[in-house]
Amino acid sequence: MKVLVAGANGHTGRLLIQYLKEDGHEPYGLIRKEEQKATIENLGGNPVLADLTKDVGYAVKGMDVVIFAAGSGSSTGADQTEAVDRDGAINLIKATENLGIKKFIMLSGMGAGSPERGPEELQHYLKMKGEADEYLQSTELDYTIVRPGGLTNDEGTSKIQVGETLEPGTISRADVAKTMIAAIQEPNAYHKTFEMISGDTQIEDALKSL
Ligand SMILES: NC(=O)c1ccc[n+]([C@@H]2O[C@H](COP(=O)([O-])OP(=O)(O)OC[C@H]3O[C@@H](n4cnc5c(N)ncnc54)[C@H](OP(=O)(O)O)[C@@H]3O)[C@@H](O)[C@H]2O)c1
Repeated sequence: MKVLVAGANGHTGRLLIQYLKEDGHEPYGLIRKEEQKATIENLGGNPVLADLTKDVGYAVKGMDVVIFAAGSGSSTGADQTEAVDRDGAINLIKATENLGIKKFIMLSGMGAGSPERGPEELQHYLKMKGEADEYLQSTELDYTIVRPGGLTNDEGTSKIQVGETLEPGTISRADVAKTMIAAIQEPNAYHKTFEMISGDTQIEDALKSL
C-alpha cells in the first residue's frame, strides 16, 4: 500500500519508513527540507516536501494510508505545539478526509486528552494532542490512535502492553513503529484509541485484544 508518513525525518518517522519498506509497502516521507530527501531515499522511501502548517493536499493525494508521526518537539514554544501537534495534525486529517482516503494512524501520547495525568510542563502539549485526537475520533475515518508512554531508542522486542489507561512506562520507538504498521491491516484496531508501553504480548495479539 502507498503510505504517507508525516514527520518522516523524525526518530520514529525514519523507523516507520524503513519498516514499511521491509513489509512490502510503498512508503512516502513527508519532510520539510530539501536536504532531508537523501535520508528518506536511503531508507527506501519517496520524499515529499510539505509543511503541516500549510497545504498538504498534494502530499496526501493518491495514498492508501496516512500516518502522523510529527511533533513540534520540546525545544519550541506553546505556539508551535498548537500549530503542529494540534492544528498540523488536524490539517492532515482534513486533507485525508477530503481526498476520500479511509485509513489514518495517529502517533499520540499517553495522557493525551487527560492533561492532569501529566507533569505541569507537559499539560499544554497533552491538551493539544488530545484535541487533535478528538477531531480524528469525530471523523468517519478508519482511525487508530496510538498513545505510547516515554519513547526510547532501545531495540524493539515486538512485545507490548496495551490498554485504555495504563500506569506510566516506556516503550521503544521501534515497537511503536511496528505497532502502527501492524494496525494498518488489523481491522480490530480501527476506531480504537489505546495507550501502550513495553510488555509481554506480541504486537499482533495485543491489537486483536483491543
Ligand atoms: N518523546 C516521547 O517520549 C514521546 C512520548 C509519547 C509520544 N510522543 C509523540 O511522538 C512524536 C514523535 O516522536 P519522535 O521523537 O519520533 O519525534 P522527532 O524525532 O522529534 O520528530 C518529529 C518530526 O516532526 C517534524 N515536524 C515538525 N514540525 C513539522 C511541520 N510543521 N511540518 C512537517 N513536519 C514537521 C520534524 O521535522 P524536522 O526534522 O524538519 O525538524 C521531525 O522530523 C512526538 O512528536 C510526540 O508527539 C513522544
